[in-house]
Amino acid sequence: MKHNARAPAGRIAYVDGRYVPHGQAGVHIEDRGLQFSDAVYEVFAVVSGTLYDMEEHLDRLERSTRELGMAMPMAREPLKFVLRELARRNRVTEGLLYLQVTRGAARRDHPVPQTQPTLILTARNIDHAGLMQRRKDGVAVITHPDERWARRDIKSTSLLPNILAKTAARKEGAYEAWLVDNDGKVTEGSSTNAWIVNRDGKIITRDLSNAILPGVTRRVILEAAAEAQLPIIERAFTPEEATGAREAFITAATAGAIPVVAIDGKPVGEGKPGPLTRRVQELYALCAAQKAAAPAES
Ligand code: PDD
Repeated sequence: MKHNARAPAGRIAYVDGRYVPHGQAGVHIEDRGLQFSDAVYEVFAVVSGTLYDMEEHLDRLERSTRELGMAMPMAREPLKFVLRELARRNRVTEGLLYLQVTRGAARRDHPVPQTQPTLILTARNIDHAGLMQRRKDGVAVITHPDERWARRDIKSTSLLPNILAKTAARKEGAYEAWLVDNDGKVTEGSSTNAWIVNRDGKIITRDLSNAILPGVTRRVILEAAAEAQLPIIERAFTPEEATGAREAFITAATAGAIPVVAIDGKPVGEGKPGPLTRRVQELYALCAAQKAAAPAES
């Protein structure tokens, strides 16, 4: 099926300085994003028409590009303008903005060339009702070996291990795959951060390092939980500890916090969303409402 045929009428992308109809947007066939996954990305949530955590995502984007010696395609303020404008042009109310920066187009040679980076932006609404349902009922996860490279702190578009793990989860009727490292510890989900609530009521998520992506939602929730004086521990945990935990959940920009009710077919706690996960969801919603009330900071 031709992809263009599926682009809803009126959908607009932004590629290298121009707003273009989604179905006609494209990059050079020798773009290094295409040739080498020489590219980084961000996904921003749009909630009730407001772009969430824009500064935090742009901070991480700048870090990812810096770590790879890649130039930013545009200064921050104009980029923020374009992001908001694209959400507006696509009439996104509950959805996401996808941003990708590639090293740019050049003759295919491995050493990094001097190129002008490519900027690609797309926007779309998401299945909001489906998301609300998942937040309410929770989801199942499977465990899967973490087969990714060693710099998972960089939000690179090299996502082959992630998409294979996610597909394995979906084949087993689960929503997400929790990736397990060589030490038998959970790193994170294929596109989410992983959390548990242990028998002592402590909220546990893996500490930041090159092993995981520093999730923006993770950071916002950690700050809100600390402010609410919820007990938090940042450390790695095993799948066994997770199955024996009272509660578990996952977080990502487009998901917020979603309860995990089963791991590898075994129930977590009572096999239904628990009170601390609900509290985290409330705290995150509260942060969101505060941000929506102060759109200048979004
Ligand atoms: N994924 N870990 C991984 C591997 C991720 O890909 C993501 C985000 C997260 C959560 O990060 P944040 O809270 O900043 O969204 C953790 C995005 C949404 C994606 O790839 O679509």
